[in-house]
This record gives sequence, C-alpha cells and structure tokens, in this order.
Amino acid sequence: MDDRFTLVIFGATGDLTKRKLLPALWSLYQGRTLPEPFSILAVARGEMTSETFRGRMREAVAAFARIQPPSEAVWERFASCLSYCAGDPKDPALYPRLGKALEGHPNRLFYCATPPSLYATIVTNLGGSGLARGRDGFTRIIIEKPFGRDLESAQELNGLIAGVFRERQVYRIDHYLGKETVQNILVLRFANGIFEPLWNREHVDHVQITVGESIGVESRGPYYEEAGALRDMVQNHMLQLLCLIAMEPPVTFDADPVRDEKNKVMRALKPIEPDAVDDSAVRGQYGPGYVGGQRVAGYRDEPGVRPDSTTETYAALKLFVQNWRWAGVPFYLRTGKRLAKRVSEIAIQFKRTPHLIFRRDAEGVDPNVLVLRIQPDEGMSLTVEAKTPGPDLRLRPVTMDFRYGAVFGGEPPEAYERLLLDAINGDPTLYARGDWVEHAWAALEPVLRRWGSDPPPKFPNYEAGSWGPPEADAFLERDGRKWRRL
Ligand SMILES: NC(=O)c1ccc[n+]([C@@H]2O[C@H](COP(=O)([O-])OP(=O)(O)OC[C@H]3O[C@@H](n4cnc5c(N)ncnc54)[C@H](OP(=O)(O)O)[C@@H]3O)[C@@H](O)[C@H]2O)c1
Repeated sequence: MDDRFTLVIFGATGDLTKRKLLPALWSLYQGRTLPEPFSILAVARGEMTSETFRGRMREAVAAFARIQPPSEAVWERFASCLSYCAGDPKDPALYPRLGKALEGHPNRLFYCATPPSLYATIVTNLGGSGLARGRDGFTRIIIEKPFGRDLESAQELNGLIAGVFRERQVYRIDHYLGKETVQNILVLRFANGIFEPLWNREHVDHVQITVGESIGVESRGPYYEEAGALRDMVQNHMLQLLCLIAMEPPVTFDADPVRDEKNKVMRALKPIEPDAVDDSAVRGQYGPGYVGGQRVAGYRDEPGVRPDSTTETYAALKLFVQNWRWAGVPFYLRTGKRLAKRVSEIAIQFKRTPHLIFRRDAEGVDPNVLVLRIQPDEGMSLTVEAKTPGPDLRLRPVTMDFRYGAVFGGEPPEAYERLLLDAINGDPTLYARGDWVEHAWAALEPVLRRWGSDPPPKFPNYEAGSWGPPEADAFLERDGRKWRRL
C-alpha cells in the first residue's frame, strides 16, 4: 500500500467536471503541485469505457484548462491515472464496487458534483457502505453549492452529514474563496499596517459589494427558476466577501481561527425585520434589452423559464454589522444577471474630510474610495483628490491603480485549483463551515420568506444591459448615497 490519494467524482459526466474539475486537476499536474501518486475515479450513470472517458476529458482540458496545450506524453501519464466507473450514485449497490476499486487506496476524497438533490443520498450511501471512515489514511468529502435552499434544508443536510462524517472531513466549496483576489483581501488587511487603523466606523462611510453579470441564465433556466439571485449569489459568495471585509484579525491564518471570525460577523448581522424587508432589500427581473450591442431576450423568454416567473434576477441588500467596529456603517450588496457589465468588486468608501480649506464646497469633492477588483482586471485602486496643474487651485480625483496581471504576469490559478489542492492537503480554511452556512441562510430567511410569498410589484422591472431596477437607485438615494458607476 502506498500513500496515494484518490479523488472519486460523483456526477463526472457533468458540466462542472468538464469545465472546472478536470481542467484544474490537469493544471495542478502540469504545474507539478498535484501530490503524487494519485488516481481519479470518475463515476456517473452512462456506460462507457475509461478510454472513452479519457478522450472526453482530453477535449475538456484542451477547451477549458489554464495551462495549454496539453503535451501528448504528459497527457498520457496524467490520463493513465484516470478511470471511469459506471453506476448510479443513488444505488447502494454501487458502493461495494467502489470499495473494491479503492482497496489499497488509503486516502480518499469524494466529490459531489451531481445535482444538489443527490448530496444527501450520496452521503448516506457512503456512510452505509463504510466508505466514510478510512482506517489507514484520510477520508474527506467535498460538497458543491448550493448547500440547501433555506435554513431548514441546510440544517437538515448538515445534520445528515454530521451523522456520517466528522466536520473536519467535510469541505463545503464556495469557489469565490479560491479566487486569488478574494484571498488577497486578507493579505491586504492583515499584512499591511496602513489600512487597519482606518478600517472602522470612524473612517468608513459605507461599503458597496457588487457582483454583476452581463450574461443571462443561458441553459440553466430550470435551475435558476428554483434559485434566484439571493440564493445563487448572495447567500454564499457575497456574504463571504462581506465577512472577509468586516471580520476581526484572526489569531492565525488557520482554518478555525479564520472561520470563527467569519462566524462572529454573521452573528453580528442586524436581523432584517420580517415586516420591514423593503427597507433592506430590493429585487428585480430583467426584461429584453441590449447587451454589448446585441438584442437579448428578457428572463421570462429564456428557455426553461415560466412566462409569468416571479424569480428575481437582481437583488440589492443593505446590511449592518452590529459591533464596535462597524455599528452604523451600511454594507450595500447588489448582484444581477444581464447587467451592463461583468464586474465583481468591493468598494470601501471613506468619510469626507471634516472641513475643506480649499475654495470649493465640500459637496464637490469626492470621498476617497478603496476598490478591490475581484474580476475581471483583478487588482485594487485608491481614489484620492489631487491638484490639477496650473495657477488655479483646482481639485480632481485621481486613481492609484494596482493590477495583478501587470505586476505578476500570466493568468492567476483558477479557484478550483487552489481549493482542490487544499482539500487534498487537508486545509479547510477557504471552505465554508457548517455553522457559517446556517448563519448565512438565517440572515436571509426574512427576505426569502417575503419574496417567496408576496408577488413582486412589477416584473420585469429592469432592461437587460442596464444597472438594475430604478428602485435600487432610490434605495441608496434614500440614504443620501449612490451606487458606484462601473
Ligand atoms: N457547472 C458549474 O460551473 C457549477 C458551478 C458551481 C456549482 N455547481 C454545482 O455543481 C454540481 C454539479 O454541476 P453540473 O453543472 O456538473 O451538474 P449537471 O451537469 O446537471 O449534473 C452532473 C451529473 O450528475 C449526474 N446526474 C444528474 N441527475 C442525476 C440523477 N437523477 N441521478 C443520478 N445522477 C444524476 C449526471 O450524470 P449521468 O447522467 O451520466 O449519471 C450529470 O452529468 C451542482 O450541484 C451545481 O449546482 C456547478
């Protein structure tokens, strides 16, 4: 027996395996960071040989991997570690067969890349077959998002998982946390001395977190109908970003200290009152419009979408973190499909100077803004006022800009590369802990309930290619603020 690790992928004929998992594993292998020896056991229902599966993955890697082109000899070596097992993850009879195939493979990482409705069955079957408890090596499981669809279902799934696995074996993936720029938020905050003294209610006026997508729902209409923007983006990615911005310095950069601090942020979130949801949240749905000069359909005309759908494709929220650092500072979150631009960023807007000595009224001077750009064009910028050259004392905002691409060159590793490697190496720091997931659902519960029961006033309420519904602008204007123009 050697110390090889084996990755077992359930749902290996799916989109995620093709577009993300295999390309990430290949890039790790090419970059010599994938621990060896290893095996990848792909499981799905369709009958095919390992040879056929390898051929499909060869195409997937060519189409989607960061590191290109796959050299034939290296690919052959990689592919020799890849095998396929036909079987239905719902069928308990599959698992003894997997057990047989895993004999002599002490370190096992199971990956649930199936529709979420199967996660519970897979966990139960792994438990029932004894595969959840390794004797000689490690046994871990990665669960894809979405983790539940509300607080109750997340609690149920956590409970079921806890009956089979220990929490330290469970890796709930949120690929946003694997992005280089997201990890850099913690480096920016905790490896630099100049920001931390300003990072509080004394100096920060408000924070805006934007995750804008220019694409529509594409082929995922049926999935999106059940999800909507709040479940798809806010409950996971955006609340994770909020935590990274708002959390206290962890004692060390290790899994539990980091995740404990994130949990404290969630526990400090001011509850949204069920009868005042409209004061804290705005929803929208796109109608037809133009994106990138192309005419595009409205949400209700997308394939797999009901013609009278009330699913939100846009959500904006105002949240408060009630603690000494952040009391009274609003965190505005907005996300949407078919917005004017694909852009994810966090903007920390600082307070204005208390008094302006220059002959220009303070209203006309822009406040300083620190922007962390997550995608595209990863980097950060700080906007400051400067004097324009000339005899008059005229002020103008200028931007100090840092771009990852320009400084470090090349493409940053894909989020899945980092996250897979961490799971293989047993580091869950960048994965969501079970209690965090429940806190996140609990925070949104009043909005989910309200939006689930009350039909929206008027859908569609924003044009594809715009920046969302007018109600979202009014939402900030009521606070004397504006969304950033991106
Ligand atoms: N795609 C992405 O980029 C992405 C991004 C983030 C999260 N995710 C999450 O990752 C998971 C996988 O996503 P995906 O897009 O790859 O899903 P998918 O293509 O819909 O499904 C993956 C595989 O699961 C198997 N499967 C589907 N229904 C089944 C059933 N009733 N019984 C047994 N097996 C079944 C299918 O394989 P066979 O029919 O061959 O058995 C299918 O190829 C989902 O939970 C998704 O939410 C995906």
